[in-house]
Amino acid sequence: MRSDAGRDMAGDSAWTIEFDHYDPGDETRREVILALGNGVFVTRGAVTDSGQDDRHYPGTYHAGCYDRVPNQVAGERDITESLVNLPNWLPLVFRPAAGAWWRLDELGILEYRQRLDMRGGRTVREVLAQDRDGRRLRIEEERLVSMDDPRLCALRLRLQPVNWTGQAELKATLDARVINANVRRFEDYEKRHLRVLGAELAGPGVALLSVQTSDRRATVACAQRLHAGGAGDGGNEMAGCANEGQCGHVLRLALREGECASVEKLVALCSSLDPRHADPSAAALEAVAGAPDFDTLQERHARAWERMWADVAIEADRADVLRALRFHAFHILQTVSPHTAALDAGIPARGWHGEAYHGHVFWDELFVLPFLNFRFPAIARASLMYRHRRLGAAREAARAAGLRGAMYPWRSASEGVEVTPRHQKNLLNGEWMRDHTWRQRHIGSAIAFSTWHYWLTTGDDAFMQDCGAEMMLEIARFWASIAEPAGDRYVIRGVIGPDEYHNAYPWREEAGLDNNACTNLMAVWTLCRARELLGMLPAEQAASLRRRLALDDEELALWDRISRRMTVCFHEDGVISQFEGFERLEPFDPDCLPPHLAGERTDWALRALGRNPDEFQVTKQADVLALFYLLGEDEVTGMLRRLGYAFGREDILRTARYYLPRTVHRSSLSRVVYCGALARLDPAQSWDFWLHALETDLNPLKGESVQEGVHLGAMGSTIDILQRRYLGISATPQGLRIDPAPPPGLGRVSLGLRYRGLRLQAETRDGCLAITADGGNAGPLHLLRGEERIALSPGECVEMPLPH
Ligand code: BGC
Repeated sequence: MRSDAGRDMAGDSAWTIEFDHYDPGDETRREVILALGNGVFVTRGAVTDSGQDDRHYPGTYHAGCYDRVPNQVAGERDITESLVNLPNWLPLVFRPAAGAWWRLDELGILEYRQRLDMRGGRTVREVLAQDRDGRRLRIEEERLVSMDDPRLCALRLRLQPVNWTGQAELKATLDARVINANVRRFEDYEKRHLRVLGAELAGPGVALLSVQTSDRRATVACAQRLHAGGAGDGGNEMAGCANEGQCGHVLRLALREGECASVEKLVALCSSLDPRHADPSAAALEAVAGAPDFDTLQERHARAWERMWADVAIEADRADVLRALRFHAFHILQTVSPHTAALDAGIPARGWHGEAYHGHVFWDELFVLPFLNFRFPAIARASLMYRHRRLGAAREAARAAGLRGAMYPWRSASEGVEVTPRHQKNLLNGEWMRDHTWRQRHIGSAIAFSTWHYWLTTGDDAFMQDCGAEMMLEIARFWASIAEPAGDRYVIRGVIGPDEYHNAYPWREEAGLDNNACTNLMAVWTLCRARELLGMLPAEQAASLRRRLALDDEELALWDRISRRMTVCFHEDGVISQFEGFERLEPFDPDCLPPHLAGERTDWALRALGRNPDEFQVTKQADVLALFYLLGEDEVTGMLRRLGYAFGREDILRTARYYLPRTVHRSSLSRVVYCGALARLDPAQSWDFWLHALETDLNPLKGESVQEGVHLGAMGSTIDILQRRYLGISATPQGLRIDPAPPPGLGRVSLGLRYRGLRLQAETRDGCLAITADGGNAGPLHLLRGEERIALSPGECVEMPLPH
């Protein structure tokens, strides 16, 4: 069945993203939108005729390829771990004989069209250009990063002179003279991470470049093979060139007016981070030698994408909605694909598309995993294995802090130690600000949450028993050790919540806040689930785990006690306080910022004025509301009841209405969190936020810093909200619960999902949510609807009326 029932509800236009004119000022943003990748490496959609300059930033990044270098920042030595910009494999430049090399920026552009074809996973740029001598040339460039063979990528250039005939040259090179310079805020950091090991010609039309990262010594090799066809056939001559950090070939072509010549540049990129490549240079040479021609490569690549799209299986009748959802799925899958499972890499917040946050892994995976759990369980599992392999580092971090269990780092890269830089630069006044965001201990609960939901959705007991349970129990143990008794309750001090504008109390010397509601309640959630998990595992497994972790009854009783007596602070009117003392801060008046600072980051603007966001009731992003996004109304109110606090539905709304005007949404995760939290309470507002989130990376007016990478968390959450909140499909310990609440405006949508090895399709139509069990399912699919249990045999369908 897969997604065929709903196929192409909105037609083909929802498969493409197009630009119909060249805008050099927008290129670095488009490079990210048009980036291509296969879960092993991603290449930005930069022009082939430029290096790094103020308009272009060619970048290629390999999953998990970080390097550590020392930096002198704010007078202190700090080691920064950064995702490394690898050699540029794109260079492919043209010139008429003896002329200057053509650069798009220096030509007259008469026609221009560039498009991303998401279905086929490729980009096409078509240009009609004219040089100063009036020579006109049609140029078509096609590009792909193979999803079929994750070592390969390719460019094909078609050249058609419009009003001239003559000799021309094409130069195709690999270029290692690249640095990390994508992010302006990082200009004071060391930008060099690569040492060139070799740049050579390795046979007719073949060049090989190999580099090594400076500290971590990862080796990356690129091999290129050039092939010319079309009008120049037979008469082509090729000359090799290799010098400092560059190598490749120059091809002489005889071009004829009106005739099309084509050149294919096939490149293999292999790294020592991939266990399949013991010798990356040999692997790259072998891959490029065995690579088929562009058409065959493209055909196989398209087939690999077709299989993945069949599993994505999202359809909607609104083309704008469908295009954005596909765009989100596309970039998630270019960052993590079935190929990533062979590597040891997490889910970076901004994709492998740019250098924002140095490519680090945060809690954002939490927002991406629901999409993967229900469609690509192997990819989801691989990202959790990245966390599990770093459990030792998390245990060590807890021990070093005088705590127990596992304390995962807020920002993680290669080793799983904390990599949050010590300072951040305020670009408005040049000040280096101390970065306290590492205090976001809620990361641990995010990992526990992802582990739990992966298990509930996939039924992967082996993973839970071998790896997941250990992580969850150790994270729970950490919460029990950081929670301190205070009177008849427990408190958690010295942390910060998701809202990074509040790091310290204006009235207290040391940084960190007390009783952040999101942290405390997610700690309670983790403690409860860890205990519940022990009851759900086979008794023998649970007992052996407990023995291995020395988890005795007394410790479990403490977990239970804390989960009943954790502190949550409230304001007088019953609003949940973001942290203890939030109401004592000064109200924030956005109009207090002078006009020249009004559009700037609020924390920077306040500091530039000699003030500090810590003093104000202004939050960067949803914080308390993250609880309702993640857990839903019933679970949060249930937990509050368990803790002895009365809190009802109207209090949730009151809490949301209190924080909304105090939130400046300076994280792409802010609106989506409100969106999910308000799905039932305020569907119209939720819908507005959802539409806004769909445009995070596509609309230049709505997204920020897209040129530094996509916003994977926001991308994943638009899909999570659609399936879990709007269609109301969630995996629970009791089974697959269906409780739809689509907002007005959603229209027809259809999702194909996998739940515990069974496939189903959920589709809104004619006031109903229809759930169909795939005809190929091995057994019945059990659904929960209120108190009712519905069993769907393979091929059966049930229709549930949607609430009005
Ligand atoms: C947000 C975090 C997020 C990070 C990476 C920050 O701006 O405050 O919540 O994890 O970006 O996306």
